[in-house]
Amino acid sequence: QTVDWDPQDAGKGGYEHYMLKEIHEQPTALRQTLRGRIEHVTGDISLEDFPEGTFDGIRRVQFVACGTSYHAGLAGSHFIESRGVPSQTFLASEYAVSTPPVDDETLVIGVTQSGETADTLSALRRANASGARTLALTNVIGSTAARECDDALFIRAGPEIGVAATKTFSSQVASVSLLGERIVRDVVGHRSEDIEAVLSAFADLPDHVQQILDFTKAHRIAKRYHDSDAYFFIGRGTAFPVALEGALKFKEISYEHAEGFAAGELKHGPLALVTPTTPVFAVFDGQNDEKTLSNVKEVEARGAPVIAVTSDANETVSQHVDDVLTIPDTHPDVAGVLANVQLQLLSYHAAALLDRPIDKPRNLAKSVTVE
Ligand code: G6P
Repeated sequence: QTVDWDPQDAGKGGYEHYMLKEIHEQPTALRQTLRGRIEHVTGDISLEDFPEGTFDGIRRVQFVACGTSYHAGLAGSHFIESRGVPSQTFLASEYAVSTPPVDDETLVIGVTQSGETADTLSALRRANASGARTLALTNVIGSTAARECDDALFIRAGPEIGVAATKTFSSQVASVSLLGERIVRDVVGHRSEDIEAVLSAFADLPDHVQQILDFTKAHRIAKRYHDSDAYFFIGRGTAFPVALEGALKFKEISYEHAEGFAAGELKHGPLALVTPTTPVFAVFDGQNDEKTLSNVKEVEARGAPVIAVTSDANETVSQHVDDVLTIPDTHPDVAGVLANVQLQLLSYHAAALLDRPIDKPRNLAKSVTVE
């Protein structure tokens, strides 16, 4: 007697797609990313190759990246800059053609899951040639970025097969935050005031992600809105990169028109596209909710359905919108990871309803090695 066995399906561990498997692997991936890196008793962080003083002499930090990794870079520069160290994130393809001024007091961090993206490698080489110190934040030990940069920090998310990045985004955001705190301590000379709250939120993150996976309504929301004309994602502060990533994921795998905007920019153009058949996903960061709510009212006045992604503690927001995807209450710098998990599930279910080839979307590659 023989058993039919398909190695492809075996790799999916019972899930229909690698993407869904990888979304569900996030609690484990995050535990691996964080393992041994947070000292709960002292509120210290411990990053193997980056002891205290590693970044003495650095005055500014630039991130270069593409695609999903660019959004993780935006989260990184927000974390660092809000704690007193000048930081910016650049699209690697633009940085490589027009490199901003850098010197030996500039740390340039390439965020790249694969460590092989041509645009990111090119930007890192430009930075290196201009005298900056370079660091690869990557998932792949032995990758070109890890080998070529002065330093490397590994996100330890485990292999990712689905073309659309999921678990690596969560691990990238956790890693840029821990690395960010190491940099801030060396540059500013003291730990961030809120670091205990941040570290405790990261320690809870794997369980919080699990709660979302267990209780999400994303499939119902995907079904409710799946024959719309276009999908918009808005957010402010730490929710802005999440809005961009939500829209990127949605267009990559569903092939539907999706755009992400800074919530405050809606009225400067995109509002012209808003109609009753363009659902708007509003991501709340827990810090700027009142302003984002006023942007929600602008789209509601044009008849658009609004789905909020917000903390389960936030009743004010829930009262003003059509549907809610809730996330556990946490620190604003960590909330984005949770909101993004809800949006990953939304995109996955929308694409599944449309019968798209989720793990291998047309025209896209997991690793893009041409500029
Ligand atoms: C490709 C992938 C994206 C990814 C981007 C950057 O476009 O389809 O999912 O975000 O490359 O890849 P990297 O390996 O540099 O993070």
